[in-house]
Amino acid sequence: MRWWDIGPVLELEKALFPQDAWSKGLFWSELAHARGANANRRYVVAVDPDGRIVGYAGLAAIDGTGDVQTIAVAQEHWSTGLGARLLTELLTTATAFECREVLLEVRVDNTRAQRLYERFGFEPVGVRRGYYQPGNIDALVMRLTDPNFAVQGMTHGS
Ligand SMILES: CC(C)(COP(=O)(O)OP(=O)(O)OC[C@H]1O[C@@H](n2cnc3c(N)ncnc32)[C@H](O)[C@@H]1OP(=O)(O)O)[C@@H](O)C(=O)NCCC(=O)NCCS
Repeated sequence: MRWWDIGPVLELEKALFPQDAWSKGLFWSELAHARGANANRRYVVAVDPDGRIVGYAGLAAIDGTGDVQTIAVAQEHWSTGLGARLLTELLTTATAFECREVLLEVRVDNTRAQRLYERFGFEPVGVRRGYYQPGNIDALVMRLTDPNFAVQGMTHGS
């Protein structure tokens, strides 16, 4: 993802996270950490054959721990494997950053996303009460140890 992608990404962001969409400023700030010698973020976009952005995802890597900052796929592309491809990209990035583990937060009511994470080996490790505002929705914290192993397993179909 580059700065010129932020406009179309924001359109998707508002549609997919209507209650707690990220601001333009937050995407700019995240991308600022994705370049240069001390880069500790990686953001990717998925484009359709016409060049339209239909998905995006980002990872932060700090002190050997990866954090899935965001992952989203345009609704008309759900269940085509795009979410899995984006997550694979993030876990490959985590491996490149030498992360020993990857963490994420997901709304407790977002079972669709949780299933995706479980397929990759993420396990629930805790709950953050009222993490998502407004709405006071709890976050399930999930953790994956050994992201490299998870990517190998998915790639080889085991
Ligand atoms: C969560 C999200 C990223 C998943 O994206 P996705 O592209 O639908 O993910 P996938 O297609 O890889 O997997 C979803 C399902 O499709 C199935 N699937 C994967 N590839 C498939 C294919 N080629 N053909 C048919 N089905 C397929 C998977 O088995 C999976 O089924 P399951 O949910 O029953 O396990 C997407 O729903 C989304 O953007 N949601 C809104 C934003 C959001 O909640 N983000 C997460 C915040 S923590």
